[in-house]
Amino acid sequence: MKKFEIDPDRKIFRKYIPEAKFLNEVAMSQRAKLLSESTKLFRVPAILNIEKEQGFVDLELIENCKTFRQFYISNAKFGANKKQKDLLISHFSQLGKSLWQIHQEDMNDDLQKTSFPEGFFDERFANDHVFIHGDFTMRNILIDSEKNEPYIIDWSISPLFDFSANFGPRYWDLTFFISSLFLFSPSTLFSYKSKTEYAKAFLTAYIVEIDVDKAVFVRKLQQFLMEYNYYKLYDSKLKQRSLIKKVIQSYSIKKLYRFANDLDKIMT
Ligand SMILES: Nc1ncnc2c1ncn2[C@@H]1O[C@H](COP(=O)(O)OP(=O)(O)OP(=O)(O)O)[C@@H](O)[C@H]1O
Ligand SMILES: [Mg+2]
Repeated sequence: MKKFEIDPDRKIFRKYIPEAKFLNEVAMSQRAKLLSESTKLFRVPAILNIEKEQGFVDLELIENCKTFRQFYISNAKFGANKKQKDLLISHFSQLGKSLWQIHQEDMNDDLQKTSFPEGFFDERFANDHVFIHGDFTMRNILIDSEKNEPYIIDWSISPLFDFSANFGPRYWDLTFFISSLFLFSPSTLFSYKSKTEYAKAFLTAYIVEIDVDKAVFVRKLQQFLMEYNYYKLYDSKLKQRSLIKKVIQSYSIKKLYRFANDLDKIMT
């Protein structure tokens, strides 16, 4: 199925969305757009046109952008200087604060709650449910080269399911984001320590205003990172993988578990 079309003259990015996710993705994007305008912490591409029958939306085209993963790799690779590191720290903090804002959204209004399958999470996380982005990875954040500011895109909820689940534990988005940070890349091979610093900047900004005990937050996040990280979740979905993907996966998950083990020390 066709997924995207770009019209550079009209500055349109046309995205085709499966029917089961269509209305939810549109509603979440519109909500997020309003939130981005009131908080000014992040941006969301405007929806210019909605064609439900034909299954697409036209989004404002973000020109000359990189994914946050590309941006991270180019600023964190071997030989990066202090200025680049400081720039990354400030981006990671901004994204932590942004995610906290997204999770703050009022739940008692018009946005329809759609939940994960029954029993997907046990009761440990029962009190932590919020509206989530669902696929908050570094690939779903774009950085434009003009202002270097983050756009949060792809409000399609979890890619693991073919239905929408927009209401789940806050740790879901935190875990996806941190999982994506620990994804292997050759040019950031020996970067465990600096990755922990970026993750710390992200998490510290997130928890600054949250109303939970920090020790409890850290313990729950550790459990979530171990049990619901995206490598583990995808693994059960995609059984057949190439050898190279398996090697990358096992390297990445090892680093992620190391991070989860170290988390209480990192966050003190
Ligand atoms: N508004 C936009 N302007 C410019 N590029 C965009 C825009 N929206 C998305 N893109 C580009 O298209 C890619 C995929 O978009 P998106 O994440 O919304 O769809 P997706 O179905 O999740 O695809 P993927 O599985 O690749 O993430 C993004 O990583 C980005 O490079
Ligand atoms: Mg995406």
